Formats: sequence, structure tokens, C-alpha cells
Amino acid sequence: MALIEAQELTKVYQLGRVDVRALRGVDVSVERGEYVAITGPSGSGKSTLMHILGCLDSPTSGGYRLDGEDVANLRGRALAQVRNRKVGFVFQTFNLMPRMTVEENVALPLQYRGGYSRRARLRRARTLLERFGLGDRIGHRPDELSGGERQRVAVARALIGEPAILLVDEPTGNLDSEAGAEVLRAFREAHAAGNTIVMVTHEPDVAAEAHRGIHMADGQVAA
Ligand SMILES: Nc1ncnc2c1ncn2[C@@H]1O[C@H](COP(=O)(O)OP(=O)(O)OP(=O)(O)O)[C@@H](O)[C@H]1O
Ligand SMILES: [Mg+2]
Repeated sequence: MALIEAQELTKVYQLGRVDVRALRGVDVSVERGEYVAITGPSGSGKSTLMHILGCLDSPTSGGYRLDGEDVANLRGRALAQVRNRKVGFVFQTFNLMPRMTVEENVALPLQYRGGYSRRARLRRARTLLERFGLGDRIGHRPDELSGGERQRVAVARALIGEPAILLVDEPTGNLDSEAGAEVLRAFREAHAAGNTIVMVTHEPDVAAEAHRGIHMADGQVAA
């Protein structure tokens, strides 16, 4: 069975009396180990789709199975539990905790999950940080790092819980090309290690990193 199986997803946002139909019947399926890029113009529904695939939001209608679990009808806490166990996110804006050190930031998802000692959490965080070339930055605060380094910290944080899927929205949008290349190397490495990645991007050369493309237009997957 595919890791992601979504059928006929729709999402309608209510803005006052206006209905915004952000998704109009989207079918997506992603196999374990795939690296997929989602492209499409601004407003075509890419982030809306990512939020649903990542269990940050639920569809208005349609079916969604993630890693064999039917999640389309889950809400609130039940949805958050699936998200915490199965999904790692990387956003354009890094979203690191400014007062925590780099290693504490990376270890945070394990703290939320529970069941790990502080020592065990930090040990795993350091292993990941070394993998992404940040072994000499573990005690720093995020504002002491470059943009590319911060984003690699975010990649390590997304991976520490060994999620079934890594969801990435415009990961290089705030980076210059050299820093962007370092971040893309981190994803390549994660993919080679067996991680499944779905990435939204505007940039054709970033999309070219992935092994399959899904193009969206007007809330639908374009032919
Ligand atoms: N929370 C919301 N409330 C109301 N409308 C929304 C909301 N989020 C998104 N939309 C609308 O849904 C549509 C799809 O938005 P979405 O953010 O998914 O597009 P996108 O493809 O990610 O665009 P971009 O490339 O600019 O990030 C747009 O018309 C947007 O205005
Ligand atoms: Mg978006």
C-alpha cells in the first residue's frame, strides 16, 4: 500500500460569506521512499494540500490514508497524535526556538513525544547534527547561525522522530543559492537514507532535485 493515498480531496475556506475553494478534487499517491516535488502558481493550493497531507488540517471532503491509517475524519487531538508520530515538517521560515540551543531545538520533538531521557534526546540530536555538518554548532543559538545552517537544523529537527514522511514547503525560499544547495544536499542525504520526501517549491532547479513532479493549477492536479 502506498504511504500517502488521497482521493478527491477538497478544501473550502469560508471567508465571511465567500467560499474559497482551495482544493477541488485532488488525488495524490506517494510510495515509500519517493522524493516528490509539488509545483504550481501562487494560490493553486500547494500549501493547503501540504497541510492536509501533514495532518495540520483536515479536508472538507475526500479520503486520506497516511501509512495505512485513515485520517480524513480525524480532528483535534487525534489528528495531532498522528502528526506527531508520522510527519516531519520543514518550512520556509525555519521556525526554530530562539532561546534554545541548536541541539535543544533538534531534540524538542522527542520531548513532546515523551519516553526519552534528556540525555538520550540530546545524544540523538547531536548524531543528526553531525550528519548535516553542524557538529560544531550544537551549543549555539539559532541567531548565531547563517540561514542555510538554520534550515539544516530544521531538517535535523524534522527527522529526529523518524517520521514516515518529510513534508517541506519552499525550503530554499529565504536562502541564497549556495545556502540553498547545502539544504538540498541535506534532503538528498535524507532521501538516500530511506526517507520519503514531498516538497513544495516555486523554483524549477529545486523541483528538479525530486524524482517525480506533481503540478497544481487552480486547486487541482494539472495533467
Ligand atoms: N486560511 C485560509 N483562509 C482562507 N483562504 C485561504 C486560507 N489559506 C489559503 N487560502 C486560499 O486558498 C487558495 C490556495 O492557497 P494556498 O496557500 O494553498 O496556495 P499556494 O499554492 O501554497 O500559494 P503560494 O505559492 O503563494 O504559497 C488561495 O486562494 C488562498 O487565498
Ligand atoms: Mg504556499
